[in-house]
Amino acid sequence: MSEPGSGCKIAGVGVNVPSRVLTNFDLEKMVDTSDEWIVTRTGIRERRIADADETTHGLAIPAAQEALRSAGIEARDLDLIICATATQQRYFPSTACMIGHGLGAGDAPGFDISAACSGFIYGSSIIQQYFRGGMAKNALLVASEIYSRIVNWQDRATCVLFGDAAAAVVFSASDSSEGLIATRIRSNGEYGSFLTGGAITRSGDPVAGALPTMGDGYFIEMKGNQTFKIAVKSMCDVATRILEENGMTVADVDMVIPHQANIRIISAVGKSLGLPEDKVYSNIHRYGNTSAATIPLALYEAVQEGRVKKGDVVLMVAFGGGLTWGASLMRW
Ligand code: UT7
Repeated sequence: MSEPGSGCKIAGVGVNVPSRVLTNFDLEKMVDTSDEWIVTRTGIRERRIADADETTHGLAIPAAQEALRSAGIEARDLDLIICATATQQRYFPSTACMIGHGLGAGDAPGFDISAACSGFIYGSSIIQQYFRGGMAKNALLVASEIYSRIVNWQDRATCVLFGDAAAAVVFSASDSSEGLIATRIRSNGEYGSFLTGGAITRSGDPVAGALPTMGDGYFIEMKGNQTFKIAVKSMCDVATRILEENGMTVADVDMVIPHQANIRIISAVGKSLGLPEDKVYSNIHRYGNTSAATIPLALYEAVQEGRVKKGDVVLMVAFGGGLTWGASLMRW
């Protein structure tokens, strides 16, 4: 590894979404819901659903390859691979190890992080410390989610919300003013029961013959109203704090990329922070809530659309099961 800088910038971004589209009208045929209810309450019009043989790492690899191409580096140049996911195929090998193998990243260290929808922000916080510690010159952060596998397709209160996607970011060492300025992450398990799901192992005594079975706790369960309120409050709090700690105000921010859980949450956060609508990015209508992948997917599209330009200050802010929340502040 050559001399790393202590800062890091985003050198490349890539995305990969399944081709299958599930519209609100398709959902009308599956559960007692309507396009009108879903659009009014959430802003979502359609979401992507992975094919039956798709895997979390399989979805991630093309996104990572695009990010590497865009950064102009090879997989073997990576010093670190982190995958943010709540829908990993297995506990081990980790999704990051499978991605590294698929990319040809050699012996680069890889591990998954579990922070649900805040996974991208958590990952960026870890990566910032690796760069500060001089332990990485290039790092890959991939968020890959197949929530369609842990959604209860009979529960109209949750199945309309989620979608599948992968998005990846390559961070590279930088001594310029570009790149991550700060990250701030938080969690509080007291509110863990607000949003649960995806249990792979269950309680029970296998020696006594009480083998765990599929059932309790597997599917996503959410206390929607409580989650909504705490989502708005925690995202506003962390956004305000990270700006204050870095001597900035909302006036210094060119674009906010919030976690895409609900357009009403996004609007409430923007309003509470005093931001004009055009400074708060959303693509939730096309993808729904893809958990850890929403922020890098939105960042990718915001850059493609010219909504985020070189030198812009970008504030990314998320909230998710855990409960977890956090923000990353960067100069593009
Ligand atoms: O990724 C991070 C975590 N997730 C979130 O942050 C999500 C946070 N919560 C939310 O986004 C909203 O709470 C929801 C979109 C989940 C629900 O919206 P709401 O405005 O809070 O609705 P509600 O739960 O209060 O339900 C209102 C009504 C209920 O009927 P009754 O009891 O008033 O007769 C529900 O049964 O809407 C009903 N309902 C539906 N109706 C049609 C719930 N889901 C549906 C549906 N279609 N899909």
